[in-house]
Amino acid sequence: MNMMPFLSPRGERHIYSKPDMEKYIKAISQWIDGIPYEKAFWNNVYRWKQTFNGMMQWSNYGGIIDLECFDANRFLSSCTSCKPKVLDVGCGLSYATGNYIEINGTKTALDLHYVDPLADVFNDIKKRYHRNLPDIEFGMVEYLSDFFPRHDADLIIIQNALDHSAMPIKGIQEAFSTLKTGGILYLNHHPNEAETEQYKVFHQYNIDEENGKLIIWNKTERSIIQGLLGAHADITVTRHENGHIIAIIKKLSEIPSEEYLSGHDRMQICHALMEVAGKLKISYTLKSSLKYTFYNSVQFIVQALPWEAKMRIKKLIKQA
Ligand SMILES: C[S@@+](CC[C@H](N)C(=O)[O-])C[C@H]1O[C@@H](n2cnc3c(N)ncnc32)[C@H](O)[C@@H]1O
Repeated sequence: MNMMPFLSPRGERHIYSKPDMEKYIKAISQWIDGIPYEKAFWNNVYRWKQTFNGMMQWSNYGGIIDLECFDANRFLSSCTSCKPKVLDVGCGLSYATGNYIEINGTKTALDLHYVDPLADVFNDIKKRYHRNLPDIEFGMVEYLSDFFPRHDADLIIIQNALDHSAMPIKGIQEAFSTLKTGGILYLNHHPNEAETEQYKVFHQYNIDEENGKLIIWNKTERSIIQGLLGAHADITVTRHENGHIIAIIKKLSEIPSEEYLSGHDRMQICHALMEVAGKLKISYTLKSSLKYTFYNSVQFIVQALPWEAKMRIKKLIKQA
């Protein structure tokens, strides 16, 4: 790859840093490799009636918003905005959170946005199997403030998705910037998924708790989120009895823009994206559709099992 100097819009001269570019290219390539599995998984959850029904019974769709270790209904009821805005980022197709609040016994629909980078694929799956559920909006956590206004959301929920993104630290900064002051970023993840999944496809980062600190790490990086957000946030991290790592991050003040990724970094990421896109030749398309066919056949069989049976097997595997 050519390391070309380039001019920023303000006329500053920058040189791409090779290690950074390589890091971004690797992260983006691995992320793209994760797409066929994710497509095949949801395609077969929606294909099989009993699996779909099992998931909808597990999900809280149509109910009062319900999150582990956080009384979201109480928090949203106390928000100053008459219609609090909630984003479920990396929502998949599970509609897990509940989409109503209850104030003084009255149930009101939330202004809830389901957001996922695979929105187009997911909306096609819904249509294919005639499931009448809200559309998923396209968005990526790393670029959230380009999809939603800054300083606007009351609650951002990310469950089992931040560790699927290519750049989770940038994702936290972007989600934080999209929140109002006083808003909550709610994170709920299985601990150390990349280790469990052996760093395959979407699983490139681990999320963990150490002495009340939220840690995001892999074999080459380690970040303490309390250090990243400093006095701008009040952060409570809990390891739930079911093992989930739950972080409730309250925004106390805006982070000055210079503490975010610089324009230079953003341009490098954008350029890395183009490098990866440039490599997506016929061989990639072929590989990707072969992978999809393989995962789709496996998931066809796996998802034919009832939802409860799968949950029991998953639990046994995790305990082993
Ligand atoms: C395991 S699913 C979780 C779905 C849902 N949140 C749940 O807990 O049932 C992970 C989701 O993260 C999404 N994802 C992957 N990269 C992402 C990114 N950069 N930004 C937002 N979501 C992402 C995937 O498309 C997928 O739908």
